[in-house]
Parts: sequence; C-alpha cells; structure tokens
Amino acid sequence: MVDVRQISRRFGDTLAVDDATLSVRRGDFLTILGPSGCGKTTLLRMIAGFLEPSGGHILIDGKPMDDVPAHRRSIGMVFQKLALFPHMTAAQNVAYPLKMRRFERGEIAARVDRFLKLVRLDGLGSRRPHELSGGQQQRVAIARALSFSPDLLLLDEPLSALDKKLREEMQLEFRRIQQELGVTTINVTHDQREALVMSDQIVVMDAGRIEQDAAPEDVYQNPSTGFVARFLGMTSVFSGIVVSQTDAGPTIRVGDREMHGRAGCAFKPDDTVECALRAEQIRILEAGDDGCDTQVVATVEQRIFEGDRVVYQVRVPALADATLYAFDHDPLQHRRHGVNSTITIGWNAADLFAFPVEPAT
Ligand SMILES: Nc1ncnc2c1ncn2[C@@H]1O[C@H](COP(=O)(O)OP(=O)(O)OP(=O)(O)O)[C@@H](O)[C@H]1O
Ligand SMILES: [Mg+2]
Repeated sequence: MVDVRQISRRFGDTLAVDDATLSVRRGDFLTILGPSGCGKTTLLRMIAGFLEPSGGHILIDGKPMDDVPAHRRSIGMVFQKLALFPHMTAAQNVAYPLKMRRFERGEIAARVDRFLKLVRLDGLGSRRPHELSGGQQQRVAIARALSFSPDLLLLDEPLSALDKKLREEMQLEFRRIQQELGVTTINVTHDQREALVMSDQIVVMDAGRIEQDAAPEDVYQNPSTGFVARFLGMTSVFSGIVVSQTDAGPTIRVGDREMHGRAGCAFKPDDTVECALRAEQIRILEAGDDGCDTQVVATVEQRIFEGDRVVYQVRVPALADATLYAFDHDPLQHRRHGVNSTITIGWNAADLFAFPVEPAT
C-alpha cells in the first residue's frame, strides 16, 4: 500500500534520512523505531507530504506522490505534540476534518458518535480538551485522525507524553482500534517495548539509515547489526577476536577465553567483532549446574531491585573485565548475591551474537 523508495532528506549539512526504502502492506501496522534525532519524524513528514524529499519517491496505492500535496493524500495523522483545538469540544475536534471535507451534517453527527465510541469516550463529546485527562485527549486526537476514514494513519510518538501505565494501556487500545478498522498504519517511536507490542513490522533506524526491517520476533531474535541488538532488550556488548569460523558460527577469543557464537555473516580469523548477549539469556549458576556452553566467574557490581525481577550488573575478569547484565526473575526463591560477591554465570553459543565492528560515529 505504501512504497518508500530510496528516499533522502538533507537539512544543510545534516542528512536526516539517508536512502531509506520500505513498504507497508495494506492493513498492517508498521513501526519506525530509533533513537532521538535518527530521522523518524522527517521520514513520516515526507510520507504525509509536509516535507519534500531531497531524493527518492513515495508511492501510495501504486501512485507516485511526487506532485500530490498533503491535503490531497488520504492520510490521518496524530502528532508528537498533541494538537487538539483548545477552544473546540471533543466532538467538534472529531468533526473538524469531516467539515473540511464537506461531509453532510447527518453523516458528520453519525461519525462523531461512532468514533468517540470507538475510542471509549462516548458521553464526553461536549468537554473541551482541558476538561479531559491526557489519555482522553490523546484518544480524541486518534478519533479525529480516523473520523474521515483515511487510507493511511500516521502516528508520531502520540503516546510519549503519557505516564508509563497509561502509555501501556493505550498501546493495547491503539492496537485494538487499528485492527478493528483495518487501517494501514505507520507509527514512530523510540520505545522498543511499544514497537514490539504494537507492530506487524518494525523498521529500526539509526542516524538516518534503516538498519533492519522485519517482524517483531525477528528483529528481537535475529538482530542484523550490533546497533539493533543494543537498541532492543537489555544487551551486554564486548569486543572479541575471531579465532576460526565454521558453518556453525565463529569461535571468538575474548580476554583469556574462547567461545562459540552465532553470526549473520562469515568472519575470517583475526577479525575484530562485537559480541552481544541479552540479559535474559545469561543464567546465574549454582554449584553443580552445568549445561551451558560457556561458563565464567563474575563479580557482582550492582544489584538492582525492580520488583518483578532483580538485575545483576557483573564484571568478568576472564573476559577482559567485560560488564554483563543478568536477570533473576524469581528473586524471592533464589539466593541473594550482594555487591562484591562472586557468582558463576553461563550462556549458550546460540545466544552470543557476533557482529562486524561498526565504524565509530
Ligand atoms: N527543519 C529542520 N531543519 C534542520 N534540521 C532538521 C530539521 N528537522 C529535523 N532536523 C534534523 O534532522 C535530524 C532528524 O530529525 P527528526 O526530527 O527526524 O528526528 P526524530 O527521529 O524524529 O527524533 P525524536 O525522537 O527526537 O523526535 C536531526 O538531526 C534534526 O536536528
Ligand atoms: Mg520525532
């Protein structure tokens, strides 16, 4: 439904979006995920037609958008900063795009009703934005973006101003509405959890470039670059040197130890690699536990209590003093390891990702 082909945008010396290509299937929910300043909003504004690309093309429904202005594209948008009209009621806000598009009065009333109901605000239509909570205001903005049945919905971090609990509720709410209407959606966020929870497809961006484009499970389980591995999940990273490479993956020397890992490419001996290990793949071992491909002795540097889990930050002398993170998901049932105590941790070869070292930025 949406085809973005080799699109770029330059602002002076900044290449905000650098040769980005992606496509969205009809009815899908795609999230563009990346850190602040990586070019997400710029990419979204080009799709909406608010900003001209420096190069490349955008097609919607197979039609090139090069000469189609924003108001001629059938796109609903919810912005990074909330943009409700403060002097209008919730119902008037939702009616606004319908009036602009010259819908009939009866149809406007019916749609305002239907969309306020859809976002669970029936009965609150006569309130002004300042008489609504942050989450309710956000839902008015969603109803307004959807009321004219756009072909495409663009969301620019619409939940970022909400507190954590409300944000997590709204993520599920958004997903429900999107699936109920089947509207093709492109969402932008820097929140990895939001991307994983809501999306059919995730595009990970860094410094204007697309690093990976895949389904949520795939992005998480098979990150294509060190950046993606670091950006999703609690990931420890350390560097190593390739000793040998077989079809099963590389053998890597880190400090005094050699260990097996997996990689998306074949390395040569003596290549420098970046090794990434997810906290949930590291086991804290008790005496007599074995079954891990690699085991090392570590010193606890920090024990962070997070309620449903404890995060251990440990230092591993045998791995050139690498810092690793490990979770204990059942701290009440397990031994408590204090700062400076010594523990043994382990992991399997399939859980150690090796990536080519990226040039410093
Ligand atoms: N109008 C502009 N003029 C100059 N530079 C701009 C302009 N808009 C964006 N930029 C620059 O382009 C880069 C990408 O900005 P963009 O707003 O797309 O980032 P973002 O990924 O949406 O970030 P955030 O998560 O903070 O919203 C940044 O370096 C930014 O400073
Ligand atoms: Mg932005």
